[in-house]
Amino acid sequence: MAINDKVKFTWIGHGTWRVRSAAGKEILIDPWVMNNPAAPEHLKKIDRLDLMLITHGHFDHILDAVEIAQATKPKIGCVPEIGWWLESKGVEGASGMAGNKGGTIDYDGIKVTFVHADHSCGIKDGDRVVYGGEPCGFVIEFENGFTVYHAGDTDVFGDMRLIAELHHFDVAFLPIGGWYVMDPERAAKAVELLGVKTVVPMHFGTFPILAGRPDQLQELVGSGVRVLDIKPGDEV
Ligand code: NI
Ligand code: MN
Repeated sequence: MAINDKVKFTWIGHGTWRVRSAAGKEILIDPWVMNNPAAPEHLKKIDRLDLMLITHGHFDHILDAVEIAQATKPKIGCVPEIGWWLESKGVEGASGMAGNKGGTIDYDGIKVTFVHADHSCGIKDGDRVVYGGEPCGFVIEFENGFTVYHAGDTDVFGDMRLIAELHHFDVAFLPIGGWYVMDPERAAKAVELLGVKTVVPMHFGTFPILAGRPDQLQELVGSGVRVLDIKPGDEV
């Protein structure tokens, strides 16, 4: 199921991915790891991390960010508001390489463009809700030129077509679970707007309400598009 021979993605579960880049960098997208009920036990330990990318501030995307960042001291790619919140929790320099929509940041050869996501982004902090800036998706270009679109948590939106026009990627990571994000029917429209030929589904199955399934999306998009049928722990 490899989508590139030099870049390896491991699905920890839900929206969380561990990535080994073409040059051997370790990347974690949306750090919900030790407390992620979908994560296989052997993936609940992160020993080394070069880059942490955070799409937005909901607990199922940042709950383990502070602990992992303090232990592994990665560069952190997020909007400033999330960086400042992480600093308030003791993660030094968390906003130092923050970005925002439309910007491309080169994290040691891995170029990350922050793009729109249609979602919300409050951070639950005890009994308060802290403003977490805007939710994002990422277009990630690895050292070998391989490029993917990771949509984060989102509904389908018309400017997915614009994102595909401005970047060249063949693979999209799309949420399909429904309830908090788009379901397979709306994800099929996203596939059409993006024009991608390979879809890696995510944000499904963690809880019963996240009911969308890869085979439903596969049926909707037809045989011209490959929807990977994955489970937590799989490598693509
Ligand atoms: Ni969310
Ligand atoms: Mn989520």
